[in-house]
Amino acid sequence: MTANRKLIAGNWKMNGLKADALDLASDLAGRLKGAGPVAFDMLVCPPFPLLFPVGEAIADSPLALGGQDCAPKTSGAHTGDVAPTMLKDAGCRFVILGHSERRADHGETDAVVNAKAVAAHKEGLVAIVCVGETEAQRDAGQANAVVSGQLAGSIPAGATADNTVIAYEPVWAIGTGKTATPDDVKAMHAHIRTELDGKIAGAAKVRILYGGSVKPGNAAELMAVENVDGALVGGASLKADDFWAIGTACR
Ligand code: PGA
Repeated sequence: MTANRKLIAGNWKMNGLKADALDLASDLAGRLKGAGPVAFDMLVCPPFPLLFPVGEAIADSPLALGGQDCAPKTSGAHTGDVAPTMLKDAGCRFVILGHSERRADHGETDAVVNAKAVAAHKEGLVAIVCVGETEAQRDAGQANAVVSGQLAGSIPAGATADNTVIAYEPVWAIGTGKTATPDDVKAMHAHIRTELDGKIAGAAKVRILYGGSVKPGNAAELMAVENVDGALVGGASLKADDFWAIGTACR
């Protein structure tokens, strides 16, 4: 099987103001433009208010733009929500959906994530659907079953390898400095690949990202694991040197 091209996605979460965001995005865009051929696609997902300025700053570069969430509707009386059409308008090609922080902080269920993915797909956005077990679930031997359930519930019928990316992010590894071992990552990514088979046509081509305390020091090892097609990076995506080092760790 030929490996999928890696996707290195930066999830800025609720961090950054306009000036810093423009510096960071322009720095990365410049590196990408100057680097020649690289072994990865690179994506940044700033907070909503920064999408337009960042989108404009990186428009002539290969650096891609994404949102961190979207509403399951295209418009209307939904105070505080942001429609996928609006993400499109800002220059986004991707949207992160069902991140564990949204599942925990906003009670997002698999059904909600599924509806958001349908809306994102309708606008031609690539949905990065996040799944992952808690530490208690892993300790109880339920990790595979939890992830299977999230995949079954969150991925809509119209998903393809072109419009959907999966991010496996064990909740206990997010922002904690703890990472899953390469063996655990390998086992879970193989499990996810098997689950996708039959659910998505061309499942082998769906990119499956690993996320949770990815940093320059562990990126090469994690990105070399079978069925790991990139990374969803939080903390280390806020520093251009670190995020770039994660990209260039891809072979
Ligand atoms: P982290 O976050 O890299 O800071 O652990 C990853 C994520 O939540 O996407």
